[in-house]
Amino acid sequence: MTRWNVYVTNEIPKPALDMLAEYCDMEVNRTGQVLTKPELLEKVKGRDAVLSLLTDPINAEVMDAAKGVKIFANYAVGYNNIEIPSATERGIMVSNTPGVLTDTTAEMAWALLFSVARRVVESDKYTRKGKYKGWGPMLFLGQDVIHKTVGVIGAGRIGLSFAKRAKAFDMTVLYTDIAANPQFEQETGGEFVSLERLLRESDFVSIHTPLLPETSHLIGEQEFKLMKKTAILINTSRGPVVDELALVKALQSGEIWGAGLDVYEFEPEFTEGLMELDNAILCPHIASATIDTRTKMGTIAVSNILAAMRGELPPNCLNPEVYKPNSN
Ligand code: DGY
Repeated sequence: MTRWNVYVTNEIPKPALDMLAEYCDMEVNRTGQVLTKPELLEKVKGRDAVLSLLTDPINAEVMDAAKGVKIFANYAVGYNNIEIPSATERGIMVSNTPGVLTDTTAEMAWALLFSVARRVVESDKYTRKGKYKGWGPMLFLGQDVIHKTVGVIGAGRIGLSFAKRAKAFDMTVLYTDIAANPQFEQETGGEFVSLERLLRESDFVSIHTPLLPETSHLIGEQEFKLMKKTAILINTSRGPVVDELALVKALQSGEIWGAGLDVYEFEPEFTEGLMELDNAILCPHIASATIDTRTKMGTIAVSNILAAMRGELPPNCLNPEVYKPNSN
């Protein structure tokens, strides 16, 4: 079988690159920087496959530059960076890396939830600045988690994994999605409610929905008004699901109590005012960033490329309608 020529748009864990190198000729962007648009347009030329990242906008222009590419294997479960209809029109397959980062991402949502509720980052900074002069009854009062109500927006794999852990803290689980999910209810005891009720009743709101036209700015000014003043918002999904300017205002005015964010509306830029807020914890999109998970994401992305090279349907193909058996 002819070895494919593959471009990898950024460094990924070594076991995945080794696996790819065994079967394919490859070039890896090892600059540590996201490729600029002109660089991306140049680098995809003459390849059989591209292993792309969520930071690479793969649109029709890139696909036209990438003549001969049979698959864009995205190193992420999310694929809002890729114009799937444009790929389908051009007969290019697109794949993602679902499943392996479910629990890791859910764990990060809990890490953020606890850190905001108990003011972990804020009090750490205070201590390091030498401000701690002895135990104080009013020092960094936070919010309890046990017995509270947690609202889960999006009852897919990650939302489910997140909600299952609420049992350990005897929490009430509310959830919302486009439809009720019996598996979710069975495994979490969660109640399917409207977004409005979820926002009104939850002490913690965690977002686990993909970014779609219908979920863009799902949480904005009106929604913050519905939330409790003591509520904490957690977002480990995609930044544009939240209107970030409205979030900054809600955090500044005390309309909600705090936020734990791993993703941003204009990533990697931040809405003015966000950085200055002590009641927000800001992480650099690391919810899936464990050694094991990032390695598995890499080997899955590579497996999708290798399957396509063998003429098989890639296991995580998002547009299987373009697959042509044994086309290679
Ligand atoms: C994804 O996979 O979509 C995450 O945002 C990064 O791992």
